Amino acid sequence: MADWNELGKVARNWTYEAAEQIKEALANPFKVEAKSGPDDLVTEVDKNTEAFFYNKVRETFPEHSFLGEEGTAEKLENTDGITWIIDPIDGTMNFVQQKIKFAISIGIYEDGVGKVGIVYDVMADEMFYAVKGVGAYVNEVELVAGKERPLNESIISLNARWLTETDHPHANPLLALVRDSRSVRSYGAAAIELAYVAADRLDAYLSVNLSPWDYAGAQVLLEEMGYRATSFSGETLSLLNGGTVIAAKPALQREIVSAYVGEEN
Ligand code: IPD
Ligand code: CA
Ligand code: CA
Repeated sequence: MADWNELGKVARNWTYEAAEQIKEALANPFKVEAKSGPDDLVTEVDKNTEAFFYNKVRETFPEHSFLGEEGTAEKLENTDGITWIIDPIDGTMNFVQQKIKFAISIGIYEDGVGKVGIVYDVMADEMFYAVKGVGAYVNEVELVAGKERPLNESIISLNARWLTETDHPHANPLLALVRDSRSVRSYGAAAIELAYVAADRLDAYLSVNLSPWDYAGAQVLLEEMGYRATSFSGETLSLLNGGTVIAAKPALQREIVSAYVGEEN
């Protein structure tokens, strides 16, 4: 049986090592490419960071599987056994243009069950991590479950662009949700925003389109806190395919699904 505490320690050490390399790379010019459009960027630093983790996992745990955003590993067909799901830089646009608010995200799953979650905000030096059944932490401080707030006292996080896509099926429910909440934030790095929900800095985070590497790390944190992350229709998030995501404390999460973004709305 795997020692998840030990594996978590190894993963955190590699994360700190990778973060040093990212910070060094930030000091020099680097190549930026657009993938599907001008808001979907990748740099050589993303690719090198993913290769760093891939090589570490391959050398140290050859029996483990690997899924990363930049496609360093072969396509993952299932989540049997131990799988590392990594976003080498979440918030690449922030990394390129703002040089703050980007994270390394790692989820380690066994047969589809989250065991270790890491979201490391590199420039803030904030290490959010959780080990299933052990606890969730930011740096060395254990996170304590926050109290539920009614929606009109809740701060929710989402990308304002979705409010402008008037023909998008979720645009109207999101407008109503924004109107009924206390206030809205947007940080441009899904993994950090999901970690903020786990840390009670945000009450909810929503996205109409995330991939497994965006939420695999933070999902372990959220589960450890007893919070919920599902699709807009309330289904468990897939580790093989992406889609909509709503994460919040449990009562608020259910309310947002049933009264706003769920299928019956
Ligand atoms: C993106 C960020 C962004 C979210 C996008 C993601 P990337 O990840 O998390 O906040 O809105 O959907 O793709 O490309 O920077 O790793
Ligand atoms: Ca991402
Ligand atoms: Ca990324």
